[in-house]
Amino acid sequence: MKVQRAAVIGAGAMGSGIAQVLSQSGIEVILKDVKQEFVDRGLANIKRMYDSRVKKGALTQPEADQLLGMVKGSTDYEGFNNVDIVIEAALEEIEIKLQIFKDLDEVCPSRAILASNTSALSISEIASATRRPEKVVGMHFFNPAQFMKLVEVIPGVRTSQDTVQTAIELCRDMSKVAVRVKECPGFLVNRLLFPYMNEALWALTEGAGTPQEIDEAVEAFGLPMGPFALFDMTGIDICAHVNEFLYKEYGPRFTPSPLLKQMIKSGFLGQKSGAGFFVHEKGVVPKKGEPKKINPELQQMIEAARKEAGTDRKSSKQFEAYRVLLPMFNEAVYALQEGVIETSDVDVAMEWGCGLTRGLLTIAEEKGLVWCLEELDGYHKDLGERFRSSWLLRKLVRAGIHDFSKLEQQPVAAR
Ligand SMILES: NC(=O)c1ccc[n+]([C@@H]2O[C@H](COP(=O)([O-])OP(=O)(O)OC[C@H]3O[C@@H](n4cnc5c(N)ncnc54)[C@H](O)[C@@H]3O)[C@@H](O)[C@H]2O)c1
Repeated sequence: MKVQRAAVIGAGAMGSGIAQVLSQSGIEVILKDVKQEFVDRGLANIKRMYDSRVKKGALTQPEADQLLGMVKGSTDYEGFNNVDIVIEAALEEIEIKLQIFKDLDEVCPSRAILASNTSALSISEIASATRRPEKVVGMHFFNPAQFMKLVEVIPGVRTSQDTVQTAIELCRDMSKVAVRVKECPGFLVNRLLFPYMNEALWALTEGAGTPQEIDEAVEAFGLPMGPFALFDMTGIDICAHVNEFLYKEYGPRFTPSPLLKQMIKSGFLGQKSGAGFFVHEKGVVPKKGEPKKINPELQQMIEAARKEAGTDRKSSKQFEAYRVLLPMFNEAVYALQEGVIETSDVDVAMEWGCGLTRGLLTIAEEKGLVWCLEELDGYHKDLGERFRSSWLLRKLVRAGIHDFSKLEQQPVAAR
């Protein structure tokens, strides 16, 4: 099915971005929120985006006006009886999403696909609120949706192949890069990012370097920003919540450092609160390469986190970026072991979802899988379960296989 008319639920940061991208691809969109003021705020965001494209010369004013005219704001379900797809981007609460999907099932035509932009909730559970679970799918966009190319397309247990195909084709129409991801906690990108971010916290608590030193060591590997800059930008509270969730789902590999909790206790939530790992002065944009001002209270919070962790385990090696990249790589191999994603899509997802300009699996292959396993085992000995290597990595090394392309032809059951 070619999508021509769409609706977006929730006119917040993500919903307004998604509605803009849809309209820019020539698709009519209804943008719905619970109050007119929220709808207006979403429409104003979209207008700002189009204004900036006109300013840059990417669009003429009449073109921008025409595209903006394709988005209609609403506080009710009028017009939903004629849409091909709805993308839900309301609050991340299961009860709210279940009610929305129940309502959508009532008001949308039977052909309509119902997609959710949830970051972490179960697509299969959301689908259970409808009588059309085969037409419910996850479409996980990244923030800001206007600029980030990746969309993780996540089928639930009952989603049909046609639905997945339509979602993937819609992504292509919106000039996005779609990767199909099996439903699992954190989907792919967040599942891989958090072991790396969490390990940076443990390294910091251990005294391995300053936030800026660790960020710079990692950025040299082709990430647009290091873990501490990313913590501050995303919000310490949001990161702590995701990390706890993944720990609950996956266990010791995700053992959270207590540092984020200490920071939340002290009111340091990152950019939005004026300070996190770094100080963020209002209106001051630090120049690239300039030393950043470290939060003067950070050391105190690190001491408290060290005490709370109740361990003085340390790595016997001097800090290097591989310490934080290896847990990300290891998690990617766990995901391959579980058949969460196609081998060739891992690097694609990490490039378009978090800006890693060098492929994660490629970096590992260049170092050698034997080296990766030995390093993981070494860190495991020093630091414990966060570094337990995947069975698949051991198997590849034992079989003398040095690259992941060999997995591409293999069914998951054979891994
Ligand atoms: N912000 C991100 O970085 C990001 C990235 C990927 C996915 N997501 C997911 O996207 C969703 C939206 O996130 P956001 O950051 O845009 O949130 P937001 O708070 O900016 O916007 C949510 C909007 O949904 C509206 N809303 C709440 N209940 C509604 C209902 N019943 N009907 C219609 N609208 C309703 C709210 O009024 C609000 O305007 C969440 O599920 C989130 O997990 C967020």
